[in-house]
Amino acid sequence: MVRPKPTVGDTSWFVRDRFGLFIHWGLYALPARHEWVKHVEQIPDEQYDVYFRHFDPDLYDPRLWAEAAAGAGMKYFVVTTKHHDGFCLWDSQLTDYKAPNTPCGKDLIRPMVEAFRERGLRVGFYHSVIDWHHPDFVVDNLHSMRGRPDREALNATRDQTRYAAYLHGQVRELLTGYGKIDVLFYDFSYPPEKGRNDWNSLELLKMTRELQPGIIVNDRLDLQDVEGGWDIRTPEQFMPREWVQVDGQPVVWETCQTFSGSWGYHRDEASWKSIEQLVQMLIGVVSRGGNLLLNVGPTGRGEFDDRALERLRGMGEWMKRHSRSIYGCTQAPDGIPCPQDCRLTYNPETNRLYVHIFAWPFVQLHIDGLAGKVAYAQLLNDASEVKMGEVPEHQASMAGPSPDTLTLHLPVRKPDVVVPVVELFLK
Ligand code: GLC
Repeated sequence: MVRPKPTVGDTSWFVRDRFGLFIHWGLYALPARHEWVKHVEQIPDEQYDVYFRHFDPDLYDPRLWAEAAAGAGMKYFVVTTKHHDGFCLWDSQLTDYKAPNTPCGKDLIRPMVEAFRERGLRVGFYHSVIDWHHPDFVVDNLHSMRGRPDREALNATRDQTRYAAYLHGQVRELLTGYGKIDVLFYDFSYPPEKGRNDWNSLELLKMTRELQPGIIVNDRLDLQDVEGGWDIRTPEQFMPREWVQVDGQPVVWETCQTFSGSWGYHRDEASWKSIEQLVQMLIGVVSRGGNLLLNVGPTGRGEFDDRALERLRGMGEWMKRHSRSIYGCTQAPDGIPCPQDCRLTYNPETNRLYVHIFAWPFVQLHIDGLAGKVAYAQLLNDASEVKMGEVPEHQASMAGPSPDTLTLHLPVRKPDVVVPVVELFLK
């Protein structure tokens, strides 16, 4: 069994729960063409302000969001308290640039945290260390004002240390005002331009852990080389081929993924993943010992749009009958080869192995090395028995299995679920 490197934060629940919801919500929901729109189009503050003046999510009901997430089988959520544009969703005392000062007129984080907690989900905050609005954030090549001819002059009055104090003050507000916070997802460092000294990362991390003992902190404060400088690795919009390792050692990891490419609500994007792709993604991640943080970008009216809801429902349909192969599961023990077109997960507590079949074969599925090691086998969706046995003698010479191969006898027709799973009760 692979055991990941121990973490300072409490990851015991995290590696059990496996599946979370990411929420990217902010002013960029209005332009609806990527949360980086201010940067991409180099929109000046005065112009971007039009979204601040029109931000009015009148249909916002976080209980519906929490219901959709819980229905999909998600066990925690991580919301953007502030993204790179600097706009704050909570009632920060350190800035006017916040939801309560828009037409929406209220703290959006508090009711969200309450609604998700009520549904039993754990709470995570995403917080951008980058800030394209704050007057002390030194303009660099990633800044939305990078192209300004007076950039030098602008920077003459900017004091990154003062910005860091603001950043720390805001994180303190978030970690003292909303009860127990389980995850802090900082985003992001890009040394040599901006890194640990620009955020005063060591202090920030120390304060984070002091204010919320047990909190899980991600790996974007530019402290990768510091012992205890991060708890989880966070590959983004990318599927690692195997369990993520650092210096040859497997670590706790979580990949964050979008439905369509953009994190913020994007009206016109057409590259939405199918429910099958998404379910396969979740399975693929757990089969490599990781977590999936799947993102929704709510609209400016405050809703999850239909494309997102349809996918969450589809995943929930699958999870309703198959979550046993996800929760509490991890990579299969070494030495069990994965059959063709399949992914394996394993629950060490129940000693059950889950065979996820991505392409339905014709009747026989062979697993090398497992002959005699399985007490019982069933399809997970309906608990119908899957007969086990050897390949009949008159076929054996043509099938070519070795004597230690377990052969599962599947129905000809694929069960009517997105990804069928065979549950093997190991001896
Ligand atoms: C990034 C992006 C971003 C998104 C995030 C999610 O680094 O800047 O817009 O919030 O990653 O992981």
